[in-house]
Amino acid sequence: MPAVVLVGAQWGDEGKGKATDLLGSRVDYVVKFNGGNNAGHTVVIGDEKYALHLLPSGILSPGVVPVIGNGVVVDISVLFQELDDLNSRGVDTSRLLVSSQAHIITRYHRTLDQVTERFLGKRRIGTTGRGIGPAYADKINRVGLRIADLFDPKILRAKVEGALDQKNPLLVKLYNRRAFDVDLAVDELLAYADRIHPFVANTPLVLNQALDDGKTVLFEAGQATMLDIDHGTYPFVTSSSATAGGAVTGSGIGPTRVDSVIGVIKAYTTRVGEGPFPTELFDDMGVYLQKTGGEFGVTTGRARRCGWYDAVIARYSSRINGLTDLVVTKLDVLTGIEKIPVCVAYDVDGVRMDEMPDDQSDFHHATPIFEYMPGWTQDISGARELTDLPQAARDYVQYLEDVSGCRVSAVGVGPKRDEIIPIHDLIHARF
Ligand code: GDP
Ligand code: IMO
Ligand code: MG
Repeated sequence: MPAVVLVGAQWGDEGKGKATDLLGSRVDYVVKFNGGNNAGHTVVIGDEKYALHLLPSGILSPGVVPVIGNGVVVDISVLFQELDDLNSRGVDTSRLLVSSQAHIITRYHRTLDQVTERFLGKRRIGTTGRGIGPAYADKINRVGLRIADLFDPKILRAKVEGALDQKNPLLVKLYNRRAFDVDLAVDELLAYADRIHPFVANTPLVLNQALDDGKTVLFEAGQATMLDIDHGTYPFVTSSSATAGGAVTGSGIGPTRVDSVIGVIKAYTTRVGEGPFPTELFDDMGVYLQKTGGEFGVTTGRARRCGWYDAVIARYSSRINGLTDLVVTKLDVLTGIEKIPVCVAYDVDGVRMDEMPDDQSDFHHATPIFEYMPGWTQDISGARELTDLPQAARDYVQYLEDVSGCRVSAVGVGPKRDEIIPIHDLIHARF
């Protein structure tokens, strides 16, 4: 039975939560393998709307075991808040498993995230301010705290002390902030230990055994390909591996176990935060997409920058992730636009580039070369098969498939669970 990886193919907010929810009834485990509560995944079930941040969207599917993998950074206060919110809405969260090796986001990580952004000024990343970057920096610097440390107060204290020995002088001397007190930091963390203990597990072992037993496991990425620490638009990226490879290291399964990789992609493009974005619109059309698509961040409420579909990015994502299937979302948002531009290549200082430039300056200078597709005016939110779509909408989907380097296996026509056109089965063995 398959291991399915699901990733964002653009700059995030493609509709990964909805796509995960769609598969919820057919999978046994949903694993979050990267990122933390910088993510905001929306799931709409009937009239109920849920925003998941730290928890995988699979937590909403009865019978699914939700897993927070070792590659995630966990802000435990946020985890408890999210569990409480879901419990108060009648969602059973008792099956949750949290990796003992996942790293912890502490108060000093959040502070450092916010002060470094301010310090960067014009060069800021536009982070979510949730402490993601500093927590991953500590992990790589080998001064991080892991969930397992909560259960050994002596080790925890030694590690917090070590981390603050480095950070306090920085906070005080460079950033003009107050130092963090070791005892207070340790006490705050120890107070979480009893409540989190029942959820903590050796998740790499659990997941490998589940696959051995023929269970279906879905790996749900946070963020997206263009925000990946290695493959995104560095330095305007997040600090984790948001591409398909991250599912392997971030959960402890081998690459030979992965059967398929789904890329979720909007029928246009959005981006939150700073950084280059070749198809970005600065005119009324950008505002139109923002309003019609409801393009406001689930985590920070910031307005998302909007632009046209970028096939160079789609092909890049197909390659970097080894995509087997694309889920195109928000086709309904394009209804009523007379002529829809699709970026098929870049003009970089007078030179045509068909693939993602390797040089960061080239990408910063890239302007889109568009092809234009005829639009449609009919409401498509009721379409449940390709044949229900007006011809122009079908042609648009077919065109995206032709230029994106991967087959289109489903098309979203609205935020609700059933507002989708299935084309190919999204859960399949390797081919
Ligand atoms: P994620 O971070 O990738 O899970 O995406 P977000 O939840 O941040 O943003 C996607 C938004 O688009 C949410 O508000 C979804 O409810 C909504 N959405 C998802 N698919 C569709 C679709 O096909 N059509 C429309 N109109 N909205 C959609
Ligand atoms: P989902 O999972 C869109 C962006 C931030 C910022 C950059 C770094 O909902 O698609 P960070 O706080 O991670 O250090 O910020 O990454 N970013 C996202 N943009 N969707 C997300 O998650 C994002 N998570 C982080 O806006 O530009
Ligand atoms: Mg989101």
